[in-house]
Amino acid sequence: MTTPPPSGSDDVLPAVANLDTIVSLSKRRGFVFPSSEIYGGINAVWDYGPLGVELKNNVKRAWWRAMVQDRTDIVGLDAGILMHPQVWVTSGHVGSFSDPLVECGTCRRRYRLDELPGAEELTATDLLDATVVERFGLSCPNDGGPLSAPRRFNLMFQTHMGPVQDEGSIVYFRPETAQGSYVNFKNVQQSSRKKVPFGIAQIGKSFRNEISPGNFVFRMREFEQMEMQYFVRPGDPAAAAFEEWLPRRRAWYEAYGVTPARLRTREHRPDELAHYAKKAVDVEYRFPFGWKELEGVHNRGDFDLSRHAEASGENLEYFDPATEEHFVPWIVETAAGADRAAFTFLIDAYREEEVRGEKRVVLGLHPELAPYKVAVLPLLKKRPEIVELCHRLRTDLARDVMAVYDDSAAIGKLYRRQDEIGTPWCVTVDVDSLEDGAVTVRDRDSMTQERISIAGVKRAILDRMEAARP
Ligand code: GAP
Repeated sequence: MTTPPPSGSDDVLPAVANLDTIVSLSKRRGFVFPSSEIYGGINAVWDYGPLGVELKNNVKRAWWRAMVQDRTDIVGLDAGILMHPQVWVTSGHVGSFSDPLVECGTCRRRYRLDELPGAEELTATDLLDATVVERFGLSCPNDGGPLSAPRRFNLMFQTHMGPVQDEGSIVYFRPETAQGSYVNFKNVQQSSRKKVPFGIAQIGKSFRNEISPGNFVFRMREFEQMEMQYFVRPGDPAAAAFEEWLPRRRAWYEAYGVTPARLRTREHRPDELAHYAKKAVDVEYRFPFGWKELEGVHNRGDFDLSRHAEASGENLEYFDPATEEHFVPWIVETAAGADRAAFTFLIDAYREEEVRGEKRVVLGLHPELAPYKVAVLPLLKKRPEIVELCHRLRTDLARDVMAVYDDSAAIGKLYRRQDEIGTPWCVTVDVDSLEDGAVTVRDRDSMTQERISIAGVKRAILDRMEAARP
Protein backbone atom coordinates (compact mmCIF):
# COMPACT_ATOMS: atom_id res chain seq x y z
CA MET A 1 0.00 0.00 0.00
CA THR A 2 1.34 3.43 -0.83
CA THR A 3 0.85 6.27 1.58
CA PRO A 4 -0.67 9.42 0.16
CA PRO A 5 1.64 12.43 0.46
CA PRO A 6 0.72 14.91 3.18
CA SER A 7 -1.91 17.42 2.13
CA GLY A 8 -1.03 21.11 2.06
CA SER A 9 1.95 23.18 1.07
CA ASP A 10 5.46 22.27 2.16
CA ASP A 11 7.08 25.64 1.64
CA VAL A 12 4.95 27.74 3.93
CA LEU A 13 7.06 29.75 6.34
CA PRO A 14 6.72 29.15 10.07
CA ALA A 15 5.14 31.97 12.06
CA VAL A 16 8.32 32.61 14.05
CA ALA A 17 11.68 31.70 12.58
CA ASN A 18 13.25 30.96 15.92
CA LEU A 19 11.76 29.20 18.91
CA ASP A 20 13.84 31.39 21.27
CA THR A 21 11.55 34.32 20.46
CA ILE A 22 8.58 32.43 21.94
CA VAL A 23 10.55 30.92 24.83
CA SER A 24 11.81 34.34 25.93
CA LEU A 25 8.42 36.04 25.52
CA SER A 26 6.85 33.22 27.53
CA LYS A 27 9.32 33.66 30.38
CA ARG A 28 9.33 37.46 30.37
CA ARG A 29 5.58 37.90 30.27
CA GLY A 30 4.62 34.93 32.46
CA PHE A 31 3.24 32.35 30.04
CA VAL A 32 5.61 29.44 30.75
CA PHE A 33 8.50 28.93 33.18
CA PRO A 34 10.95 26.02 33.48
CA SER A 35 9.79 23.74 36.31
CA SER A 36 11.76 23.94 39.59
CA GLU A 37 13.95 26.61 38.02
CA ILE A 38 15.66 27.66 41.26
CA TYR A 39 17.04 24.10 41.47
CA GLY A 40 18.28 24.17 37.89
CA GLY A 41 15.03 22.92 36.34
CA ILE A 42 13.81 19.42 35.59
CA ASN A 43 13.98 18.24 32.03
CA ALA A 44 10.75 18.24 30.02
CA VAL A 45 8.45 19.65 32.67
CA TRP A 46 7.20 23.23 32.37
CA ASP A 47 5.08 25.44 34.61
CA TYR A 48 2.37 27.76 33.33
CA GLY A 49 2.57 31.29 34.69
CA PRO A 50 -0.29 33.75 35.25
CA LEU A 51 -0.89 34.34 31.54
CA GLY A 52 -0.10 30.78 30.45
CA VAL A 53 -2.67 29.25 32.76
CA GLU A 54 -5.32 31.60 31.35
CA LEU A 55 -4.35 30.72 27.77
CA LYS A 56 -4.34 26.98 28.42
CA ASN A 57 -7.64 27.11 30.34
CA ASN A 58 -9.15 29.02 27.41
CA VAL A 59 -7.88 26.39 24.95
CA LYS A 60 -9.40 23.63 27.07
CA ARG A 61 -12.68 25.55 27.39
CA ALA A 62 -12.84 26.10 23.61
CA TRP A 63 -12.23 22.38 23.03
CA TRP A 64 -14.85 21.38 25.61
CA ARG A 65 -17.37 23.74 24.05
CA ALA A 66 -16.81 22.29 20.57
CA MET A 67 -16.68 18.67 21.71
CA VAL A 68 -19.23 18.50 24.56
CA GLN A 69 -21.28 21.65 25.12
CA ASP A 70 -22.26 22.20 21.48
CA ARG A 71 -23.16 18.55 20.85
CA THR A 72 -25.90 16.24 21.96
CA ASP A 73 -23.94 13.06 21.20
CA ILE A 74 -20.82 13.57 23.37
CA VAL A 75 -20.56 13.60 27.16
CA GLY A 76 -17.66 14.34 29.49
CA LEU A 77 -15.64 12.23 31.90
CA ASP A 78 -12.79 12.79 34.34
CA ALA A 79 -11.18 9.44 35.13
CA GLY A 80 -8.29 8.91 37.54
CA ILE A 81 -4.67 9.19 36.44
CA LEU A 82 -3.87 6.00 38.35
CA MET A 83 -5.76 2.94 37.14
CA HIS A 84 -5.77 -0.78 37.79
CA PRO A 85 -2.38 -1.96 36.41
CA GLN A 86 -4.11 -4.65 34.36
CA VAL A 87 -5.64 -1.86 32.22
CA TRP A 88 -2.20 -1.16 30.78
CA VAL A 89 -1.39 -4.82 30.20
CA THR A 90 -4.68 -5.30 28.34
CA SER A 91 -4.34 -2.07 26.38
CA GLY A 92 -0.95 -3.25 25.08
CA HIS A 93 0.99 -0.40 26.69
CA VAL A 94 3.04 -2.60 29.03
CA GLY A 95 4.10 -4.73 26.06
CA SER A 96 4.28 -2.24 23.21
CA PHE A 97 4.33 1.37 24.32
CA SER A 98 8.02 1.87 23.72
CA ASP A 99 10.48 3.77 21.56
CA PRO A 100 13.80 2.49 20.14
CA LEU A 101 16.66 3.75 22.30
CA VAL A 102 20.37 3.89 21.42
CA GLU A 103 23.23 4.98 23.64
CA CYS A 104 26.57 6.58 22.77
CA GLY A 105 29.55 4.46 23.89
CA THR A 106 31.66 7.51 24.76
CA CYS A 107 29.46 10.36 26.07
CA ARG A 108 26.70 7.96 27.25
CA ARG A 109 23.96 10.19 25.85
CA ARG A 110 20.75 8.41 24.90
CA TYR A 111 18.71 9.06 21.80
CA ARG A 112 15.48 7.98 20.19
CA LEU A 113 16.80 6.11 17.16
CA ASP A 114 14.15 7.40 14.76
CA GLU A 115 15.00 11.02 15.63
CA LEU A 116 18.73 10.81 14.84
CA PRO A 117 20.00 12.73 11.83
CA GLY A 118 20.10 10.23 8.96
CA ALA A 119 17.34 8.05 10.43
CA GLU A 120 14.41 9.82 8.78
CA GLU A 121 13.64 7.00 6.35
CA LEU A 122 13.98 4.03 8.72
CA THR A 123 11.09 1.57 8.65
CA ALA A 124 9.53 -0.04 11.71
CA THR A 125 11.57 -3.20 10.95
CA ASP A 126 14.80 -1.19 10.78
CA LEU A 127 14.06 0.32 14.18
CA LEU A 128 14.20 -3.13 15.78
CA ASP A 129 17.15 -4.42 13.77
CA ALA A 130 20.36 -4.97 15.77
CA THR A 131 22.49 -4.02 12.74
CA VAL A 132 20.66 -0.80 11.88
CA VAL A 133 23.35 1.52 13.30
CA GLU A 134 26.08 -0.03 11.11
CA ARG A 135 23.88 -0.39 8.05
CA PHE A 136 22.94 3.29 8.06
CA GLY A 137 26.31 4.57 9.35
CA LEU A 138 24.69 6.33 12.34
CA SER A 139 26.80 7.95 15.03
CA CYS A 140 26.34 10.11 18.11
CA PRO A 141 25.23 13.64 17.10
CA ASN A 142 27.04 15.03 20.15
CA ASP A 143 30.58 13.64 19.78
CA GLY A 144 30.42 11.26 16.79
CA GLY A 145 30.91 8.28 19.14
CA PRO A 146 29.69 4.73 18.40
CA LEU A 147 26.03 3.97 19.11
CA SER A 148 24.68 0.81 20.71
CA ALA A 149 22.21 -1.49 18.97
CA PRO A 150 18.62 -0.28 19.62
CA ARG A 151 16.56 -1.57 22.50
CA ARG A 152 12.92 -0.98 23.25
CA PHE A 153 12.39 1.57 26.02
CA ASN A 154 8.96 1.58 27.65
CA LEU A 155 7.62 5.11 28.06
CA MET A 156 5.36 4.54 31.05
CA PHE A 157 6.19 6.03 34.44
CA GLN A 158 5.70 3.65 37.34
CA THR A 159 5.10 4.16 41.00
CA HIS A 160 3.93 2.02 43.90
CA MET A 161 0.52 2.11 45.49
CA GLY A 162 0.29 1.59 49.24
CA PRO A 163 3.02 1.13 51.83
CA VAL A 164 4.75 -1.90 50.29
CA GLN A 165 7.08 -1.35 47.37
CA ASP A 166 7.25 -4.61 45.47
CA GLU A 167 6.24 -6.04 42.08
CA GLY A 168 2.67 -6.43 43.26
CA SER A 169 2.21 -2.77 44.15
CA ILE A 170 3.29 -1.29 40.80
CA VAL A 171 0.87 1.16 39.24
CA TYR A 172 1.39 3.36 36.18
CA PHE A 173 0.88 7.05 35.55
CA ARG A 174 -1.47 6.97 32.57
CA PRO A 175 0.23 7.69 29.22
CA GLU A 176 -3.13 8.57 27.59
CA THR A 177 -6.56 9.51 28.90
CA ALA A 178 -8.30 7.20 26.42
CA GLN A 179 -8.25 4.05 28.57
CA GLY A 180 -10.31 5.80 31.29
CA SER A 181 -13.07 6.24 28.71
CA TYR A 182 -12.91 2.62 27.56
CA VAL A 183 -13.13 1.05 31.01
CA ASN A 184 -16.02 3.43 31.81
CA PHE A 185 -17.82 2.75 28.52
CA LYS A 186 -20.68 0.89 30.18
CA ASN A 187 -20.99 3.26 33.14
CA VAL A 188 -21.22 6.27 30.86
CA GLN A 189 -23.48 4.68 28.25
CA GLN A 190 -25.96 3.37 30.79
CA SER A 191 -26.04 6.45 33.05
CA SER A 192 -26.33 8.92 30.17
CA ARG A 193 -28.57 6.61 28.10
CA LYS A 194 -26.67 7.57 24.96
CA LYS A 195 -27.21 5.53 21.84
CA VAL A 196 -24.39 4.57 19.49
CA PRO A 197 -22.94 6.63 17.86
CA PHE A 198 -21.92 8.69 20.87
CA GLY A 199 -18.69 9.97 22.35
CA ILE A 200 -16.85 10.38 25.66
CA ALA A 201 -14.59 13.42 26.02
CA GLN A 202 -11.84 13.88 28.56
CA ILE A 203 -9.21 16.47 29.38
CA GLY A 204 -6.43 15.54 31.76
CA LYS A 205 -2.79 14.96 32.53
CA SER A 206 -0.82 12.18 30.90
CA PHE A 207 2.77 11.14 31.50
CA ARG A 208 5.41 9.69 29.20
CA ASN A 209 9.05 9.10 30.00
CA GLU A 210 10.05 10.45 26.59
CA ILE A 211 13.60 9.61 25.47
CA SER A 212 14.07 12.86 23.63
CA PRO A 213 11.72 15.51 24.94
CA GLY A 214 12.24 19.05 23.79
CA ASN A 215 11.30 21.99 21.65
CA PHE A 216 9.91 23.78 24.68
CA VAL A 217 6.41 22.50 25.54
CA PHE A 218 6.09 20.52 22.29
CA ARG A 219 7.23 17.26 23.85
CA MET A 220 7.12 16.98 27.60
CA ARG A 221 7.12 14.19 30.14
CA GLU A 222 4.07 15.56 31.95
CA PHE A 223 1.43 17.06 29.68
CA GLU A 224 -2.27 17.42 29.19
CA GLN A 225 -4.43 15.69 26.61
CA MET A 226 -7.86 16.53 25.20
CA GLU A 227 -9.21 13.23 23.86
CA MET A 228 -12.58 12.15 22.57
CA GLN A 229 -13.60 8.53 21.98
CA TYR A 230 -16.48 8.13 19.54
CA PHE A 231 -18.27 4.77 19.76
CA VAL A 232 -19.69 3.70 16.41
CA ARG A 233 -21.12 0.66 14.63
CA PRO A 234 -18.32 -1.56 13.29
CA GLY A 235 -16.93 -1.29 9.77
CA ASP A 236 -18.19 1.32 7.32
CA PRO A 237 -19.91 3.57 9.89
CA ALA A 238 -16.58 3.80 11.73
CA ALA A 239 -14.77 4.65 8.50
CA ALA A 240 -17.39 7.31 7.75
CA ALA A 241 -17.11 8.79 11.25
CA PHE A 242 -13.34 8.98 10.79
CA GLU A 243 -13.76 10.97 7.57
CA GLU A 244 -16.09 13.39 9.39
CA TRP A 245 -13.92 13.89 12.45
CA LEU A 246 -10.64 14.55 10.65
CA PRO A 247 -11.71 17.74 8.80
CA ARG A 248 -13.78 18.84 11.77
CA ARG A 249 -10.76 18.72 14.04
CA ARG A 250 -8.54 20.52 11.56
CA ALA A 251 -11.23 23.19 11.16
CA TRP A 252 -11.26 23.73 14.93
CA TYR A 253 -7.68 25.06 14.85
CA GLU A 254 -8.51 27.29 11.90
CA ALA A 255 -11.64 28.62 13.64
CA TYR A 256 -9.42 29.78 16.50
CA GLY A 257 -7.04 31.56 14.19
CA VAL A 258 -4.33 29.10 13.12
CA THR A 259 -3.12 30.00 9.62
CA PRO A 260 -4.65 27.36 7.30
CA ALA A 261 -1.50 27.10 5.15
CA ARG A 262 0.49 26.06 8.23
CA LEU A 263 -1.78 23.05 8.78
CA ARG A 264 -1.77 19.81 6.83
CA THR A 265 -2.84 16.21 7.34
CA ARG A 266 -0.56 13.19 7.10
CA GLU A 267 -1.62 9.56 7.08
CA HIS A 268 0.51 7.07 9.03
CA ARG A 269 2.26 4.40 6.99
CA PRO A 270 1.15 0.86 7.89
CA ASP A 271 4.50 0.22 9.64
CA GLU A 272 4.10 3.43 11.63
CA LEU A 273 0.65 2.69 13.04
CA ALA A 274 0.31 2.42 16.83
CA HIS A 275 -0.49 -1.06 18.09
CA TYR A 276 -4.20 -0.26 18.43
CA ALA A 277 -4.80 1.62 15.18
CA LYS A 278 -6.40 0.48 11.94
CA LYS A 279 -5.91 3.90 10.44
CA ALA A 280 -4.35 7.10 11.76
CA VAL A 281 -4.05 10.56 10.29
CA ASP A 282 -2.22 13.38 12.03
CA VAL A 283 -3.16 17.02 11.80
CA GLU A 284 0.28 18.60 11.53
CA TYR A 285 1.46 22.17 12.07
CA ARG A 286 4.44 23.90 10.53
CA PHE A 287 6.43 24.56 13.72
CA PRO A 288 9.73 26.52 13.58
CA PHE A 289 11.42 23.09 13.81
CA GLY A 290 9.42 21.54 10.95
CA TRP A 291 6.08 19.85 10.28
CA LYS A 292 5.02 17.98 13.42
CA GLU A 293 1.95 16.29 14.85
CA LEU A 294 -0.58 18.56 16.50
CA GLU A 295 -3.38 16.03 16.89
CA GLY A 296 -4.08 12.45 15.85
CA VAL A 297 -7.35 10.99 14.57
CA HIS A 298 -7.42 7.21 14.91
CA ASN A 299 -9.72 4.40 13.88
CA ARG A 300 -9.07 1.96 16.75
CA GLY A 301 -11.55 -0.66 15.58
CA ASP A 302 -12.81 -2.90 18.41
CA PHE A 303 -9.26 -3.39 19.73
CA ASP A 304 -9.79 -1.69 23.09
CA LEU A 305 -13.30 -2.76 24.06
CA SER A 306 -12.82 -6.37 22.91
CA ARG A 307 -9.56 -6.74 24.81
CA HIS A 308 -10.94 -5.15 27.98
CA ALA A 309 -14.03 -7.36 27.74
CA GLU A 310 -11.90 -10.47 27.40
CA ALA A 311 -9.45 -9.57 30.17
CA SER A 312 -12.02 -8.29 32.69
CA GLY A 313 -14.77 -10.81 31.94
CA GLU A 314 -17.22 -7.89 31.62
CA ASN A 315 -19.51 -7.90 28.61
CA LEU A 316 -18.79 -4.61 26.82
CA GLU A 317 -21.17 -5.20 23.94
CA TYR A 318 -23.76 -2.61 23.06
CA PHE A 319 -27.37 -3.59 22.45
CA ASP A 320 -29.00 -1.62 19.66
CA PRO A 321 -32.73 -1.49 20.47
CA ALA A 322 -33.60 -0.39 16.91
CA THR A 323 -32.04 -3.41 15.19
CA GLU A 324 -32.00 -5.74 18.22
CA GLU A 325 -28.33 -6.48 17.58
CA HIS A 326 -25.52 -6.92 20.06
CA PHE A 327 -22.09 -5.71 18.95
CA VAL A 328 -18.79 -4.37 20.24
CA PRO A 329 -18.60 -0.75 19.06
CA TRP A 330 -15.60 0.47 17.13
CA ILE A 331 -13.85 3.58 18.30
CA VAL A 332 -12.85 6.66 16.37
CA GLU A 333 -10.56 8.74 18.54
CA THR A 334 -9.56 12.39 18.27
CA ALA A 335 -6.42 12.85 20.39
CA ALA A 336 -5.11 16.37 20.93
CA GLY A 337 -2.63 17.89 23.37
CA ALA A 338 -3.70 20.94 25.39
CA ASP A 339 -0.10 22.13 25.72
CA ARG A 340 0.69 21.54 22.08
CA ALA A 341 -2.48 23.35 21.00
CA ALA A 342 -1.76 26.32 23.31
CA PHE A 343 1.84 26.39 22.00
CA THR A 344 0.57 26.37 18.41
CA PHE A 345 -1.90 29.19 19.01
CA LEU A 346 0.89 31.18 20.69
CA ILE A 347 3.40 30.67 17.89
CA ASP A 348 0.90 31.26 15.12
CA ALA A 349 -0.43 34.45 16.73
CA TYR A 350 3.01 36.06 17.08
CA ARG A 351 3.81 38.89 14.72
CA GLU A 352 6.14 41.87 14.57
CA GLU A 353 5.11 45.06 12.80
CA GLU A 354 6.53 48.48 12.29
CA VAL A 355 4.33 51.27 13.55
CA ARG A 356 5.54 54.85 13.12
CA GLY A 357 9.13 53.68 12.91
CA GLU A 358 8.93 51.45 15.98
CA LYS A 359 8.65 47.70 16.34
CA ARG A 360 5.29 46.49 17.61
CA VAL A 361 5.02 42.90 18.85
CA VAL A 362 1.48 41.57 18.73
CA LEU A 363 -0.03 38.28 19.79
CA GLY A 364 -3.03 38.18 17.49
CA LEU A 365 -4.77 35.57 19.66
CA HIS A 366 -8.42 34.84 19.08
CA PRO A 367 -10.36 36.85 21.72
CA GLU A 368 -11.62 33.65 23.32
CA LEU A 369 -8.07 32.40 23.79
CA ALA A 370 -6.48 35.67 24.90
CA PRO A 371 -5.51 35.59 28.61
CA TYR A 372 -7.10 39.00 29.25
CA LYS A 373 -10.03 40.18 27.18
CA VAL A 374 -9.71 43.77 28.27
CA ALA A 375 -7.23 46.08 30.01
CA VAL A 376 -8.45 49.18 31.79
CA LEU A 377 -5.87 51.95 31.69
CA PRO A 378 -5.77 55.46 33.18
CA LEU A 379 -4.41 58.22 31.01
CA LEU A 380 -3.34 60.11 34.15
CA LYS A 381 -2.64 57.96 37.16
CA LYS A 382 -2.11 61.03 39.32
CA ARG A 383 -5.81 61.86 39.17
CA PRO A 384 -7.54 59.78 41.89
CA GLU A 385 -10.98 60.17 40.24
CA ILE A 386 -9.62 58.61 37.04
CA VAL A 387 -7.98 55.74 38.89
CA GLU A 388 -11.10 55.14 40.93
CA LEU A 389 -13.25 55.07 37.79
CA CYS A 390 -10.81 52.59 36.22
CA HIS A 391 -11.11 50.26 39.19
CA ARG A 392 -14.90 50.46 39.16
CA LEU A 393 -14.93 49.67 35.45
CA ARG A 394 -12.50 46.79 35.80
CA THR A 395 -14.48 45.25 38.67
CA ASP A 396 -17.66 45.45 36.63
CA LEU A 397 -16.02 43.95 33.52
CA ALA A 398 -14.36 41.21 35.60
CA ARG A 399 -17.75 39.79 36.54
CA ASP A 400 -17.93 38.50 32.96
CA VAL A 401 -14.43 38.46 31.48
CA MET A 402 -10.79 38.49 32.56
CA ALA A 403 -9.99 42.18 32.92
CA VAL A 404 -6.78 43.77 34.16
CA TYR A 405 -5.79 47.24 35.39
CA ASP A 406 -2.34 48.67 34.70
CA ASP A 407 -0.92 52.11 35.43
CA SER A 408 2.79 51.31 35.54
CA ALA A 409 3.81 53.26 32.43
CA ALA A 410 2.73 55.91 29.96
CA ILE A 411 -0.25 55.02 27.80
CA GLY A 412 1.74 54.19 24.64
CA LYS A 413 3.83 51.67 26.54
CA LEU A 414 0.77 50.22 28.26
CA TYR A 415 -0.83 49.59 24.86
CA ARG A 416 2.33 47.86 23.60
CA ARG A 417 2.43 45.61 26.67
CA GLN A 418 -1.15 44.55 26.13
CA ASP A 419 -0.49 43.98 22.40
CA GLU A 420 2.40 41.69 23.29
CA ILE A 421 0.21 39.46 25.48
CA GLY A 422 -2.71 39.44 23.07
CA THR A 423 -5.29 41.56 24.93
CA PRO A 424 -7.88 42.34 22.23
CA TRP A 425 -9.23 45.57 23.76
CA CYS A 426 -7.93 48.37 25.94
CA VAL A 427 -10.26 50.79 27.68
CA THR A 428 -8.69 54.13 28.48
CA VAL A 429 -10.12 56.51 31.03
CA ASP A 430 -9.10 60.16 30.57
CA VAL A 431 -9.98 63.57 31.99
CA ASP A 432 -12.91 63.93 29.59
CA SER A 433 -14.37 60.67 30.89
CA LEU A 434 -15.12 62.47 34.15
CA GLU A 435 -17.17 65.01 32.25
CA ASP A 436 -18.75 63.14 29.33
CA GLY A 437 -19.11 59.69 30.95
CA ALA A 438 -17.35 58.03 28.01
CA VAL A 439 -14.09 56.10 27.54
CA THR A 440 -11.88 55.15 24.62
CA VAL A 441 -11.92 51.52 23.46
CA ARG A 442 -8.84 50.61 21.44
CA ASP A 443 -8.70 47.58 19.20
CA ARG A 444 -5.49 45.50 19.32
CA ASP A 445 -5.31 44.57 15.65
CA SER A 446 -6.48 47.72 13.88
CA MET A 447 -5.34 50.08 16.66
CA THR A 448 -8.47 52.10 15.97
CA GLN A 449 -10.09 53.90 18.88
CA GLU A 450 -13.74 54.44 19.55
CA ARG A 451 -15.45 56.58 22.15
CA ILE A 452 -18.08 54.58 24.05
CA SER A 453 -20.25 55.56 27.01
CA ILE A 454 -19.12 54.01 30.30
CA ALA A 455 -22.54 52.44 30.72
CA GLY A 456 -22.19 50.73 27.34
CA VAL A 457 -18.59 49.49 27.55
CA LYS A 458 -19.29 46.07 28.98
CA ARG A 459 -22.01 45.39 26.42
CA ALA A 460 -19.67 46.52 23.63
CA ILE A 461 -16.91 44.14 24.79
CA LEU A 462 -19.34 41.23 25.21
CA ASP A 463 -20.84 41.89 21.77
CA ARG A 464 -17.37 41.82 20.22
CA MET A 465 -16.59 38.57 22.01
CA GLU A 466 -19.84 37.09 20.76
CA ALA A 467 -19.18 38.26 17.20
CA ALA A 468 -15.74 36.61 17.25
CA ARG A 469 -17.02 33.26 18.54
CA PRO A 470 -16.61 30.47 15.94
N1 GAP B 1 -4.85 8.17 22.88
C1 GAP B 1 -4.04 8.29 21.73
C2 GAP B 1 -2.84 9.05 21.93
O1 GAP B 1 -2.42 9.29 23.06
P1 GAP B 1 -0.87 10.26 20.72
O2 GAP B 1 -0.74 10.64 19.26
O3 GAP B 1 0.22 9.48 21.34
O4 GAP B 1 -2.26 9.50 20.80
C3 GAP B 1 -2.16 12.46 21.27
O5 GAP B 1 -1.10 11.58 21.57
C4 GAP B 1 -1.72 13.91 21.40
O6 GAP B 1 -1.21 14.15 22.71
C5 GAP B 1 -0.59 14.32 20.46
O7 GAP B 1 -1.08 14.66 19.17
C6 GAP B 1 -0.01 15.52 21.17
O8 GAP B 1 -0.78 16.68 20.90
C7 GAP B 1 -0.18 15.14 22.63
N2 GAP B 1 1.07 14.56 23.14
C8 GAP B 1 1.50 13.28 23.04
N3 GAP B 1 2.71 13.13 23.65
C9 GAP B 1 3.05 14.36 24.12
C10 GAP B 1 4.17 14.86 24.84
N4 GAP B 1 5.17 14.06 25.20
N5 GAP B 1 4.19 16.18 25.16
C11 GAP B 1 3.15 16.99 24.82
N6 GAP B 1 2.07 16.58 24.15
C12 GAP B 1 2.00 15.27 23.81
